[in-house]
Amino acid sequence: KPRVFSGVQPTGNLHLGNYLGAVSRWVPLQDQMETIFCVVDLHAITAGFPDRGELQKATREVTAAYIAAGIDPKKSIIFNQSQVREHAELAWIFNCVARIGWMNRMTQFKDKAGKNRENASLGLLAYPSLMAADILAYKATHVPVGDDQKQHLELTRDIAQKFNNDFADRIKDLGVGVPNPEPSPETPEELFFPITEPMIAGPATRIFSLRDGTKKMSKSDPSDLSRINLTDDADAISKKIRKAKTDPEALPSEVDGLKDRPEAENLVGIYAALAGKTKAEVLTEFGGQQFSAFKPALIDLAVEVLAPMTNEMRRLLADPAEIDAVLKAGAEAASAIAEPILKDVRKVIGFLDVR
Ligand code: TYM
Repeated sequence: KPRVFSGVQPTGNLHLGNYLGAVSRWVPLQDQMETIFCVVDLHAITAGFPDRGELQKATREVTAAYIAAGIDPKKSIIFNQSQVREHAELAWIFNCVARIGWMNRMTQFKDKAGKNRENASLGLLAYPSLMAADILAYKATHVPVGDDQKQHLELTRDIAQKFNNDFADRIKDLGVGVPNPEPSPETPEELFFPITEPMIAGPATRIFSLRDGTKKMSKSDPSDLSRINLTDDADAISKKIRKAKTDPEALPSEVDGLKDRPEAENLVGIYAALAGKTKAEVLTEFGGQQFSAFKPALIDLAVEVLAPMTNEMRRLLADPAEIDAVLKAGAEAASAIAEPILKDVRKVIGFLDVR
């Protein structure tokens, strides 16, 4: 049975990249599959411990953003990671399945650790192992994310595969596996963990900085002008798009014409994603026009889509008790799925169960 899992870190505010690359794409999945959306607070401490109040505030803000974006707590499980113990427990087991070399190859680790790798937290190195645990504690089959998470999802598949292979005999003997849907001589007949499908598609898998079309839009960029935050009001959105870097040419009429024009491609991609269109459709409409005409249209569209969401977020955040109640119910529902899976994992490993 298909099951979706995805998450966002509560480190500062959500930006347009998080919304278009991930959260907005989760909304329609709620009617097609079982959906679980997590606020990954355990991941949020890997690059340094935020202020206690800040972490709590950001956790509620991300939750409010999920709901304001259209994630419905009646259809989806919404919870924060630290409240479901199974994440940390499975991550530890995966730390013993995964190899240090796998972690050392992660580009996000290299970027985040910077020059002084010896001084990065061990948690930052093991970050992808926790991410694999998030997904596999629910045996999730589909993970909708932005392009920057691709390498982490490949590692999740590698961990699942190694676990399935290394413990193939035990999985079979204990009767805790399911038949391998794609049998081959190299893979076991029965699988414990599914081999997760990344869902990375659409015009907005990678939104770039408004100041530099070669850098991704990110929470950690020191320039606030580089990103549109989901909490920005209409004036801020308008100012940031007006100041966004562009080139002097008119927009091309075909997608090919965006090649080597990263800033133009980025703004067209943002427009397309906000309008629910393809880049080609946007260029049919705006091809031949100057940025002086395209930018006002983009501002209007961005405000039209984002303003109701920002207002709804503000309304939700005025009553933290309501948000906390959603997270509490979500944590209970998530635990109910993860607990029996971890019970089987402990059996496979051979931990003596005396309780
Ligand atoms: P995070 O918190 O950095 O980002 C959350 C989601 O937003 C996407 N995203 C972008 N998409 C397009 N353009 C951008 N500029 C952009 N910036 C961010 C990310 O791809 C992501 O989908 N490790 C994850 C969180 C995580 C997770 C998981 C995700 C933890 N466990 C399990 C899926 C499944 C992260 O740091 O995302």
